[in-house]
Amino acid sequence: MPQPGPGEVLIRVAAAGVNRPDVMQRKGRYPPPPGASDLPGLEVAGTIERVGDGVTEWRGGDAVCALVAGGGYAEYCVAPAPQCLPVPTSLDMVAAAAIPETFFTVWTNVFERGRLQPGESALFHGGSSGIGTTAIQLADAHGATVYVTAGSDEKCRACERLGAARAINYRTDDFAEAIAGLTGGRGVDLILDIMGASYLDRNLRSLAIEGRLVEIGLMGGTEAPLDVERLLRRRLTITGSTLRPRSVEEKSAIAAALLEQVWPLLERGRVKPIVYRTFPLRDAAEAHRVMETSEHIGKLVLTM
Ligand SMILES: NC(=O)c1ccc[n+]([C@@H]2O[C@H](COP(=O)([O-])OP(=O)(O)OC[C@H]3O[C@@H](n4cnc5c(N)ncnc54)[C@H](OP(=O)(O)O)[C@@H]3O)[C@@H](O)[C@H]2O)c1
Repeated sequence: MPQPGPGEVLIRVAAAGVNRPDVMQRKGRYPPPPGASDLPGLEVAGTIERVGDGVTEWRGGDAVCALVAGGGYAEYCVAPAPQCLPVPTSLDMVAAAAIPETFFTVWTNVFERGRLQPGESALFHGGSSGIGTTAIQLADAHGATVYVTAGSDEKCRACERLGAARAINYRTDDFAEAIAGLTGGRGVDLILDIMGASYLDRNLRSLAIEGRLVEIGLMGGTEAPLDVERLLRRRLTITGSTLRPRSVEEKSAIAAALLEQVWPLLERGRVKPIVYRTFPLRDAAEAHRVMETSEHIGKLVLTM
């Protein structure tokens, strides 16, 4: 039984989200940061069992979802109090468990780091992923035009139903050519990328003047040649981030922004976590197998 320290809460977990970083952790390529639980699991929803010293904003019995640095695949999990958010009244625990990791990641990378504005256009790779389904809905609700890539026509149609103006099947079409066609050669203002090296050149070719490329995943490798001239001529920005090692203060600031800007959209049902399938905790290995086949559209969730 983990013990909540000062500023932390103990959550009786009802459901825990599964994320691609958990798969990387299982493979030994994404070790937990110092001090974090070595159990996988970056997000949970459940009921607060007990609060640690100094916690005033939550009490026993509150229904919360929380971003954690590890330890989510468990019946009990400790979370920093400011990384908890109330379960939206319109959602159950399974849906709530599917919120934190992708909503924190998309918010900080698309809207803070990437500065996406209403009226701009964005390209999200992996549109049917947990990250992608969240990004599509939030950017669409923000008044941006959304393009995505996905690996099948079925996934493309699902992304368009969620709000993408057009989904590009990257297995049959070159996304850079497709974006050039869709934007009349202008390019998009923002790209949220999960592939890294293998998409770098085509991503840069797909950006408009003053465009921003935000890297959050490395599924296509880490090193690639860079045409620096393209940055200068088109005044491009390349940036990126990982969420997990960031401080409690930084994650709290993201939580506060989500509560103010995104929770009303969740409450109204304007955006929602897309849950593809649930698994009992004992079948976590099967959940990882499904994630690695990429058959899913949206999120996989473990139930306790
Ligand atoms: N930096 C951060 O803070 C942070 C936080 C969370 C997640 N992430 C990253 O975000 C990515 C998505 O995470 P997730 O949890 O949403 O995982 P997920 O649902 O498993 O998404 C992975 C997606 O990648 C797509 N994909 C696989 N191979 C591809 C290829 N060759 N070209 C294009 N797309 C391909 C898959 O679908 P199809 O190929 O069938 O289209 C799938 O939709 C991962 O790379 C993860 O590490 C980063």
